[in-house]
Amino acid sequence: MIQATAPGKVILFGEHAVVYGRPALAAPLSELRARASIEETGDPDILLAASDFGWETRLADAGPENPLVAVIRNFSMLTGRPIPGGIRISVSSEIPIASGLGSGAAIAVAVIRALAGLTDKANPLGPGDVSRIAYEVERIHHGTPSGIDNTVIAFEMPVYFVRREPEDHIESFSVAKPLRLLIGDTGQKSATRGVVGDVRRQWESDRRRFEEIFDGCGRVAMAGRAAMASGDLEKVGSLMNENHDWLTRMTVSSASLDKLVAAARRAGALGAKLSGAGRGGNMIALVTSETESAVRQGLTDAGAVRVYSSDVG
Ligand code: MEV
Repeated sequence: MIQATAPGKVILFGEHAVVYGRPALAAPLSELRARASIEETGDPDILLAASDFGWETRLADAGPENPLVAVIRNFSMLTGRPIPGGIRISVSSEIPIASGLGSGAAIAVAVIRALAGLTDKANPLGPGDVSRIAYEVERIHHGTPSGIDNTVIAFEMPVYFVRREPEDHIESFSVAKPLRLLIGDTGQKSATRGVVGDVRRQWESDRRRFEEIFDGCGRVAMAGRAAMASGDLEKVGSLMNENHDWLTRMTVSSASLDKLVAAARRAGALGAKLSGAGRGGNMIALVTSETESAVRQGLTDAGAVRVYSSDVG
């Protein structure tokens, strides 16, 4: 049996604007993981199984919309390694789907790592190769992904990311004082592809206004990086609030996200913003040990269906 895992992720600053070349910062959510395992079967086929969703199918019968099909095809195509029959590839995940926490990219990365172990144990793929394959899969699901999700998940480190040709700019960033985050789930599913596509339509019809919004997000991301490097948590919090305002102007917030963001701030968070594609999914709040339990309670009272916690740095 071969097993591999990959973490979820949160975007701290710069979602959406990152698709248009502005900088963004993201961190892995190592506590929430996707898992892939590959076992040998007596069956000559390749079987695919997702226990969380209760399905199992033969690869030959799986339609192109099956998320694992794209992972397998891209893995073989980009590594040149054929995948032998007689195996079952199973996935499961603790990361809620369609909620801005990177569940799709994490499942892809876990499966790619497991396939790498199966096809050539002596030559495991490095995080850069894993990320590149996951990016091709993301392109199928998301249309025009920036690449930040597959990068932060495959490298499993905090990343400062700028989408660039021919090579993205990827760096880690330093955090002088660890950030304690609470992550509040609205419980509303939101497909990244739809939201990213809608932002693109709006940008196409009013480029001047959207370029200004993206510039605002980019400035906030750069200032956020500097504030984290100097350990100025108050500043990090106020920049998160500012980023949420830009995202609201971008029309990607929602009533339930705004409600959780307002509740977190009222309960004493240093700052709060939606995280990921928006229009549902999750928000993040920056807390201290003094405010954590009040903010957690505030989020629950305001309707969060789950509240996770995570440390960055
Ligand atoms: C999704 O996690 C982040 C977005 O910026 C899309 C992307 O960067 O591909 C909304």
